[in-house]
Amino acid sequence: MNVEENTIKRLLKDAELDLMEDKLDDAVEKVRKAIDLAKAKGNENLLTQIMEFVQQFSYSPKKQSLQLIPIETEGYILDIGGGGEGIIGKLNGNQVVAIDKSEKELLETENKALKIVMDATKLIFLPKSFSVCTAFFSLMYIPLHDHLKIFEEVYRVLESNGKFLIWDVNIPRKFADYKAFLIQLNVELPTEDVEAGYGVLWQMQSIDYFKDLAQKSNFNIVNEWMKGDILYLELRKIG
Ligand SMILES: C[S@@+](CC[C@H](N)C(=O)[O-])C[C@H]1O[C@@H](n2cnc3c(N)ncnc32)[C@H](O)[C@@H]1O
Repeated sequence: MNVEENTIKRLLKDAELDLMEDKLDDAVEKVRKAIDLAKAKGNENLLTQIMEFVQQFSYSPKKQSLQLIPIETEGYILDIGGGGEGIIGKLNGNQVVAIDKSEKELLETENKALKIVMDATKLIFLPKSFSVCTAFFSLMYIPLHDHLKIFEEVYRVLESNGKFLIWDVNIPRKFADYKAFLIQLNVELPTEDVEAGYGVLWQMQSIDYFKDLAQKSNFNIVNEWMKGDILYLELRKIG
């Protein structure tokens, strides 16, 4: 067994111990490290072993695909939770201000967005600073009790007539013994395809849940769709 295989096996063993102690965030972090290592080595066999481990504790609907085109706007775009794959930054480049609570996530993100460590529940921007705000598979990572505050903050920093665009996933009521929910996506951008996996501790959410938050925070719902488990909402700030 080479060094990478040893490290991956150790990471999975430690993740299993974390799970036994219900330390789910720690377990997910270790699995992500193992995946990155196996991907860097291009080792498909190790990746399969990791996925088999993940499937024991997480539920994943079948892989889905999503096609995106650049957002048409003259102003700045605020991307909430813009770390990770940084899809919106890849789409609209230096027009994007990506904020994320995690410096580590932002450091790992490769795109031309301006990246700032910031908590979405306490945006430090002046009112009416952005023409568009986005949340691309970010709200699923944020505890439900913070969502309304984030909708209110986004409303505050949007210009009149500004848009809040949300891409996220329907997470059903928890079943079996699964602890985590994982959505695997193929994101088709004009310049590249990105394979993304977004995994979180299980928290139920649906398009109706987000529509309710939109109404509570004074947004108008101007467009919505569901494709498979993926949900999309286009909200507008009137006034
Ligand atoms: C994995 S990313 C989502 C995907 C990302 N938008 C992309 O394009 O790949 C979710 C991010 O939300 C961030 N996050 C969680 N809670 C947050 C909060 N309160 N404020 C800002 N970012 C937060 C996490 O650190 C994480 O990097």
